[in-house]
Amino acid sequence: MRIPVIAGNWKLFKTIAESLDLVNELKPLVAGNHGVEIVVAPVFTALSSINDAIKGSNISLAAQDCYWEEEGAFTGEVAPKLLKDVGCSHVIIGHSERRQYFGETDLTVNKKTKAAVSAGLKAIVCVGELLAERESEQTFSVIEKQIQGSLAGLAVEDFAHVIIAYEPVWAIGTGKTATDGQAQEVHAFIRKLITRLFNQSVADAVRILYGGSVKPDNVKGLMSQPDIDGALVGGASLKAETFAAIANFNV
Ligand code: PGA
Repeated sequence: MRIPVIAGNWKLFKTIAESLDLVNELKPLVAGNHGVEIVVAPVFTALSSINDAIKGSNISLAAQDCYWEEEGAFTGEVAPKLLKDVGCSHVIIGHSERRQYFGETDLTVNKKTKAAVSAGLKAIVCVGELLAERESEQTFSVIEKQIQGSLAGLAVEDFAHVIIAYEPVWAIGTGKTATDGQAQEVHAFIRKLITRLFNQSVADAVRILYGGSVKPDNVKGLMSQPDIDGALVGGASLKAETFAAIANFNV
């Protein structure tokens, strides 16, 4: 009942021309797959071109970040409604790289999530523990704090526009994937937490993606876990063939 989401986070890679090459190669490889919500998140400057390129396809467009105000004197920022305007249906919020390098906190993630949801975007809200936190057995307390802070004040109906991504920071770009069991354990914890903070039907419906070194050879194991509803893919999304192999895990 939860439609899987496979999202490619292209991070700070690729020019417009390179982005177009990638998406044009990807389109035919995933064209037959209607059981999965397939999303790509190019850099801001490629959004408009990619939006034109994916028209009529089963690929959706995401931005990698947004601001929480609609407009104003906020040099360098991009508002959710402008992302809608350029064709985005999704936006990634609070990726660990934003938290690590750009001062994102649960509070800013929360403001951005609310703004994205009220603009009608689907917010892919990221959480995840650091290696030191896992090693000191703080994973669950860290995740609880991030989920509570990032989703504070959302209404039950907002969850139609919320997707959660669990990305252990130690697994991102390192080639070290969480084992299926490690990932499932945290996903189940998050779903239980959502039941407690919101309600059972919200928890049953919300998609929780795993991210961190997802590859064609580990996606099936991860996706076979009961609480893993998709993947947020970095490195392996930069090649059409590997991203398609991940997106087509179900065919
Ligand atoms: P990775 O990145 O797949 O390269 O580990 C995942 C992410 O940062 O979303």
